[in-house]
Amino acid sequence: MNLDIFSLKGKVAMVTGSSKGLGRAAALALAKAGSDIAVCGRNQADIDTVVNDIHALNRQASGFVFDVTRKESVHKGVNEILARFGRIDILINNAGTNYRVPVLEYPEEEWDRIIAINLKGYYLVAQAVVPQMITLGYGKVINMSSILGHIGLPNQLAYASSKGGVEQMTKVMALEWAKAGVRVNAIAPTYFETEMVKQIRHDKERFDFINERTPMGRWGKLEEIEGIVIFLASAASDFITGQSLVIDGGWTAW
Ligand SMILES: NC(=O)c1ccc[n+]([C@@H]2O[C@H](COP(=O)([O-])OP(=O)(O)OC[C@H]3O[C@@H](n4cnc5c(N)ncnc54)[C@H](OP(=O)(O)O)[C@@H]3O)[C@@H](O)[C@H]2O)c1
Repeated sequence: MNLDIFSLKGKVAMVTGSSKGLGRAAALALAKAGSDIAVCGRNQADIDTVVNDIHALNRQASGFVFDVTRKESVHKGVNEILARFGRIDILINNAGTNYRVPVLEYPEEEWDRIIAINLKGYYLVAQAVVPQMITLGYGKVINMSSILGHIGLPNQLAYASSKGGVEQMTKVMALEWAKAGVRVNAIAPTYFETEMVKQIRHDKERFDFINERTPMGRWGKLEEIEGIVIFLASAASDFITGQSLVIDGGWTAW
């Protein structure tokens, strides 16, 4: 086997929510494998830091500020990326957030906000990016799901609903674009230490519950997302589409 199938040299990747957390780790992984990166988010200072991190890896990178929930904003951002890089070979739909309270207390405006970012945002960005992948005859879309797309947990009403939606969205997109050469897969991680889960990380009871639930007994380390991202973005996974790869230390094997 030629290990060049894992190389992303000459590719251009766009990663939403790559100004921090798992998106940043994914963007750095793609850059290490050879790709140039469009770093996307809302906070310019955070984006600039990640762009510098990628330059330090001797890859091209530029930052793009747009809100994934607003169609005009998404199209403006994607057009700017295409003007800068000329193409997008890899899209990672990753921007996401959470709000945790019991179902009976869940505010309607928080439901709308979470679904807009975690679910509607993925389709708006894919709709803007994929036409040029179809023209190229090749593309990779990776939707960042969660183990909450596979299992339920209390206090996760909108988040688990959005991730269940991401799982189904991944299958529909994969079926529609398979013949056009655009592969669509999801990554479903367990808990990784990022800003989104900071509160849980510092809640001893919740932290211990997650460790006890996980056969490997711990949270994921940010660098452990790298292999799965490179695999799904590269030619190594060219005959895989419509799947969700869980990375969870064995949690969902129960
Ligand atoms: N951390 C975990 O344990 C875990 C587990 C499973 C799945 N995930 C998934 O992984 C993804 C990243 O999560 P994370 O933990 O890395 O979160 P994070 O550190 O809070 O980062 C979230 C990212 O999303 C961006 N974002 C949020 N709302 C946005 C919007 N409306 N428009 C554009 N960008 C927006 C943020 O940009 P700004 O900060 O610049 O606004 C930031 O870059 C999410 O889809 C999450 O569901 C995380």
